[in-house]
Amino acid sequence: MILNSYAKLNLYLEVINKRPDHYHNLKTVFERIDLADRIILKSRPDKKINLICNFPFVPKDNLNLAFKSAKLLQDTFAVEEGVDIKIIKRIPVGSGLGGGSSNAATVLLGLNKLWKLNLLPKKLVDLAKRIGSDVPFFIYGLPFALAELRGDKISPLKALNKVRLWHILVVPKIKVSTPIIYAKWDRYSKLTRPKYDVKILNLALRKRDFPLLSETLFNSLEEITFKLYPRVRRIKESLKALGLKSILMSGSGPAIMGIVSSRKEALALREQLKGNRFWQLFVTRTV
Ligand code: C5P
Repeated sequence: MILNSYAKLNLYLEVINKRPDHYHNLKTVFERIDLADRIILKSRPDKKINLICNFPFVPKDNLNLAFKSAKLLQDTFAVEEGVDIKIIKRIPVGSGLGGGSSNAATVLLGLNKLWKLNLLPKKLVDLAKRIGSDVPFFIYGLPFALAELRGDKISPLKALNKVRLWHILVVPKIKVSTPIIYAKWDRYSKLTRPKYDVKILNLALRKRDFPLLSETLFNSLEEITFKLYPRVRRIKESLKALGLKSILMSGSGPAIMGIVSSRKEALALREQLKGNRFWQLFVTRTV
């Protein structure tokens, strides 16, 4: 079984408050993009879960969310088979693009078929929540969704089902620790506030109103990551200097995305930005 495991961007990420369980309540808009890992699943007659990956820094054991998903299914439903999981990585790791979470969701969806578990979507979502906050979004298979609570309560944004955006994506070769950024939010929580409610962002997307869109993109964590990693701020400034208006960091970073009006514009920007060997550049769109 060969599957695509897509990345996400956050077009809006408002941290609301800290919870007693040390997570944070959020209001976020996810967008699924066509930058994807490839996952190959093959059933095994023994109970072994064997994970291989072309990228050396990806854990191959229970620290890997894809491995964890397979183990959770196997243990919960007393599955007597095992699986070979091969992950071909293209989504930069630890970059705010949800690669690990997406891999987990893809394994849940794939093994539900391969192991003939016949689990309903609701059950898969419940399992996904136990793996990580960003995993449920990828179970839904939607281009856009609103997420609340830990980021795991998903509401489809049906009015946006036909909206497709083009992006230039810049990912610097630094790793950002999500728990550290969230921990700093507790101290810096008043740094930035959204100018508009997320409803206005949805309106801008639906109407393809790019000037309004540029005003409504928001991420509570951006200024915190920028303070810790000035190099990430400089990416945003470089994109601004090239005339881009809609620029935002995804998740806790360090990936920075720009929204452009066409593939042609994205390709032209990639040409202008190339040459910095610390940056990975991607032209990508909603899927
Ligand atoms: O859920 P996940 O394991 O992806 O979260 C990683 C870390 O990010 C958490 O341990 C927590 O520090 C932080 N986080 C948070 N609030 C969220 C999501 C993540 O504080 N809603």
